[in-house]
Amino acid sequence: MNEFTSKVVYPGEVPMEFVERWTEALDRRLGNRGDANRWRQVLLREAGRPAPPSTGWALTLGWSVAACWALLAATGLLLLFYYRPTPREAYESVAHVADNVRLGWLVLQLHRWGCHLLVFLFLLLLAREFYFGAYKFPRDWTWCLTVALLVAVLAFGFTGRVLPWDQHAYHATTVATEIMRQGLGKPGEWLCTLLRGGPSISGETLTRFYVLHAWLLPLAFVGLWAGRALLARAAGPPPLDAGPEESSPDPEASGNTSEQAQPPLLARSLAASELVLVLLGTLAVLSPLPLGHQADPAVVPDLLKPEWYFLPLHQLTKYFPVGVCAAAGILIPLGLLLLPFLDRSPEWRPGRRRRGLTLAGFALGLALLLGALGHLSGREYAAFGVRIRFNMAGVPEVLSPSVQK
Ligand code: HEM
Repeated sequence: MNEFTSKVVYPGEVPMEFVERWTEALDRRLGNRGDANRWRQVLLREAGRPAPPSTGWALTLGWSVAACWALLAATGLLLLFYYRPTPREAYESVAHVADNVRLGWLVLQLHRWGCHLLVFLFLLLLAREFYFGAYKFPRDWTWCLTVALLVAVLAFGFTGRVLPWDQHAYHATTVATEIMRQGLGKPGEWLCTLLRGGPSISGETLTRFYVLHAWLLPLAFVGLWAGRALLARAAGPPPLDAGPEESSPDPEASGNTSEQAQPPLLARSLAASELVLVLLGTLAVLSPLPLGHQADPAVVPDLLKPEWYFLPLHQLTKYFPVGVCAAAGILIPLGLLLLPFLDRSPEWRPGRRRRGLTLAGFALGLALLLGALGHLSGREYAAFGVRIRFNMAGVPEVLSPSVQK
C-alpha cells in the first residue's frame, strides 16, 4: 500500500501489488535503469487518482470508448484473416466466417454491434463535453480532436458497411456517393469519383473502401486518439465539480478530504468499460444482425435506408434538394470543429449557458425527429385497431382496419 492507493477496493481497481512486482522485475532485466520505476510511479499515480466529487460516471466515457474501439480493432484483425476484398469473393468470405469458422459468428457480431455502440458512445462523449463546456480553452484543441475522431468513426461505419458486398451495401453506397456527386458540385464529383474509383460502384470501389477501412482509418484513429489523450491529460478533466469561483481547477490540486472519499477514477473507468463489453457481448449473442443477399446491381431493394447514424441526413433529402443534405453533411462537423473559436466566452457552467444548451437541445430534438421519421418511412404498422402506413416522408396514412389473426 502506498500514498496513492486507497484501502477500499473498488470494482475494476488495478491490483497494485501486481504492478509493483512486475515493474520491479522489468527494471532488473533492463539493468536497473529506473525506466520501469518511472512507469510504475505514473501507473500508481493514475490508479490512485480519485474521481473528482459529483462527476458520477461522466468521466469514465473515454475508457469505455477506448475499450469498444480495441474490441473492434481486435475483431477486425481476426476478420482480415478470412476477408477477400473482391466483388466475387467478399460476400462468400463473410458468409464463410459466419457459417463455417469456429466462433466466427461471434467475432462478426461483436464487430457489427461494436460499430453501433462505438458511434453511440462517441455521440455521448461529445454531448458530455458540450454540456460541461469542455470545448472552451484550454480544452479547445481536445474538443477539435474529439470531433475529428467522431468523423473517423462515422467513416469507419460508412466504409465498413460496404465490405460484405451485400445488396444493401452495394445500393446504399451508390445512393450515398450519388448524393455527394449531385449535392456538392465539382468537389462532390471529384470526391465521388475518388471514392468509387470510376463512374460507378465496382471492384475498384471495394478495394478503396477496404484500404480505407482496414488500414488508413485505424492509423489515423490511433494517431488522433493519442493526441487527444495527451492534450486531455495536460488540460485536466472538465471542470464538472468546481465551485462558482473556480473556472479551471487543477486536477493535481484535488487532494481535499471530500475527494479522498471518492473511488479512484481509473477503477471506475475500468468498471464502466467492463460493463460496455458485457453489453456488447450480450447484444452479439442474443440479437445477431443478419447478412443480406449478395449484391446484384440489377435489382434495387424496395426500402433502402442507411445506418441509424446517417438516417437524419438521409431523411432531409426527402424534404429538400440533395444539395441541402450534402451541405448539412459538411457544415455540421465543420460547425462543431469551429465551436470553441465561435463561442469565446470563458463561462463553462451549464446553468449560465442556457441559450447555447437550449439551441443544442433543439438541434438534438430535430435530429431525433428526422431519425424517427426516417426509421418509420416506408413501413406499415398495425396499431389501435387500424393499419398505418408511413409514406417516404414519414407521414402516416390509415389504410384499413387491421385484421387480427
Ligand atoms: C483496426 C480496425 C479494423 C479492422 C482491421 C476492420 C476490419 C474489417 C473487415 C476485414 C471487415 C469485413 C468483414 C465483414 O464484413 O464482416 C469489416 C467490416 C466492418 N467493419 Fe471493420 N475493422 C476495423 C474497425 C472498425 C471500426 C472502428 C468500425 C466502426 C466504427 C468498423 C465497422 C465495420 C462494419 C460496420 C463492417 C461491416 C460488417 C458487416 O456487416 O458484415 N470496423 N471490418
